[in-house]
Amino acid sequence: MDFSPVPISLAPMAGVTDLAYRLLARECGADFTVTEFTAASGLTRRNTYSWLKVETDPREAPFIPQIFGGDISEMAKTVEMLEDRADIIDINFGCPAPKVCRNDAGAALLRDPDKVVNMVRRCISSTDVPISVKMRLGTGSGENTALEISQRLAEEGVLRICVHGRTLRQRYSGTADWNQIKEISDSVDIPVIANGDVIDTYSAKACLQATGASGLMIGRGAIGRPTVFHEIKQGMGWSVGNPPWGEGSPSKARRWCWDRYLELSEEVFDESGGKNLKRHAVSFTKGLPGASAMRVRLHSIQDKEKLGDEVSRYLHNLEEDGTQSEIASSNL
Ligand SMILES: Cc1cc2nc3c(=O)[nH]c(=O)nc-3n(C[C@H](O)[C@H](O)[C@H](O)COP(=O)(O)O)c2cc1C
Repeated sequence: MDFSPVPISLAPMAGVTDLAYRLLARECGADFTVTEFTAASGLTRRNTYSWLKVETDPREAPFIPQIFGGDISEMAKTVEMLEDRADIIDINFGCPAPKVCRNDAGAALLRDPDKVVNMVRRCISSTDVPISVKMRLGTGSGENTALEISQRLAEEGVLRICVHGRTLRQRYSGTADWNQIKEISDSVDIPVIANGDVIDTYSAKACLQATGASGLMIGRGAIGRPTVFHEIKQGMGWSVGNPPWGEGSPSKARRWCWDRYLELSEEVFDESGGKNLKRHAVSFTKGLPGASAMRVRLHSIQDKEKLGDEVSRYLHNLEEDGTQSEIASSNL
């Protein structure tokens, strides 16, 4: 079955999708990106750390900061504060973290559809910037509420809805239920983005077929693998042109992405490498030959520039080894 091109986006992920990584994902074929979730309470109190999370760069456009909170007035105020920089503002009803849910925010709000609708209505009426939402299927106790909430939010004028096909109780266990995403997608006139367990062309096709969604959002499948966007589009047969890493092996693509992440980090962060550098270093090298020994070395390096260089060297060597063995086997 052929699928017409739909947007494939990078999911918001706390501790992963910093600005440099989002720019990298865009260069690797992601159609849009969303910031990690930021507390409305932090932004309204002008907390510096919270405001750093909603920084962007013209190359990211559209800029979509994601916010969460349990207080409707605070959420509306936050939307007003973000309106001069955001192209779309996304509201999180999906976070399962106990410290978020205890404050009646994130996925915990799914137990109270009226409150979700009131919150989104207030946010929509506080700004001209379009509002989107990202939610789970429900809390996992009692009936799932995502279908009812989606229908009501579509009436309120929300731009689009992204649904992660798991409940709050499931956190990340089990498999995403794409059938429930289909039910939602079939019952509203606004775009529904399917999220959960898409990691490659095969799962992307299966998810589009199962959900009939207007787009896909990829989270864990893009950690350490920003090339996934290009790979899927190419696998789908959509015209994507040459990738920025040129022709070549997956190890060349990986090495290019790492070096580009370092370059972008240098451009957009004050210090060399962002706060997530070590985490990305681990993700980019996971499962590769000799990666565990290299990781032990990484943990002893405090200087971010040295850490970046160490991973670059390691990936360069792997690429060379790969090229050598390709040459050797072609000479057989
Ligand atoms: C490390 C990590 C951090 C996450 N942080 C956020 C977040 O800040 N906001 C959000 O809406 N979802 C967050 N999520 C959920 C993802 O956006 C996504 O919904 C989920 O991982 C399912 O998609 P996947 O199967 O493609 O990973 C996070 C997930 C992970 C793994």
